[in-house]
Amino acid sequence: MIAIEKVTKTYVSGDVEVKALRGVDLTIQDGEFISIAGPSGSGKTTLLNLIGCIDTLDSGKILIDGNPVYDLDKDAKALFRRETLGFIFQSYNLIPVLTAFENVAFALNLLDMDDKEIRERTMAILAEVGLQGMEDRRPNKLSGGQQQRVAIARALVKNPKIILADEPTANLDSHTGEDILKLMREMNEKHGTTFIFSTHDRMVMDYAKRLVSLHDGLIQNDETRS
Ligand SMILES: Nc1ncnc2c1ncn2[C@@H]1O[C@H](COP(=O)(O)OP(=O)(O)O)[C@@H](O)[C@H]1O
Ligand SMILES: [Mg+2]
Repeated sequence: MIAIEKVTKTYVSGDVEVKALRGVDLTIQDGEFISIAGPSGSGKTTLLNLIGCIDTLDSGKILIDGNPVYDLDKDAKALFRRETLGFIFQSYNLIPVLTAFENVAFALNLLDMDDKEIRERTMAILAEVGLQGMEDRRPNKLSGGQQQRVAIARALVKNPKIILADEPTANLDSHTGEDILKLMREMNEKHGTTFIFSTHDRMVMDYAKRLVSLHDGLIQNDETRS
């Protein structure tokens, strides 16, 4: 469970202060498929980065399974990120010189795992995301949707508890975006992984099981759907 309590974050650049989050309270249960929706500048990325231990909050708390992640030192945060979280980005962020297989297997290199197991897990997850036969292609030989599938496989291969996806369909056409959302939801149901994704796209919101709307750094609406 993720407990977000009265979280604030203000960015200061020069003389200008931007209140990116102004007191966010949100509880997310294990296995949710939740969308953080809102217009550009509403604080979506800031919130995901705080949950993802990439940024530090100004006040409030974030507890993940009771663990005060907001309060950990740099090394403990890095370890927690590696063991518990997976990330999917708008621009895929694959390593261009590595093949699809190598991009996914790379995520396992930091864990203590032998080559045979790395190979089996990587091949299995690539097949699950629909990339069987494309394992040896580099990102520039894959479409945007296929690259995002590699990124999803890379995030899932460690079997993390939580996947954070910041506008995962923003660079895709609507048809491909829909396929990616369906795949994420399938993976959520199959693996029980909690998915938290941000979007400002109506179609993407429609796939969420729970839709939290952010506006000017505050939660405006929180709706659970069938
Ligand atoms: N590193 C930063 N420095 C200064 N202002 C920032 C920084 N990151 C985000 N902001 C500001 O904080 C607000 C929320 O940003 P963000 O969380 O990126 O929103 P969203 O992802 O919903 O577009 C915006 O007004 C943005 O300009
Ligand atoms: Mg953003």
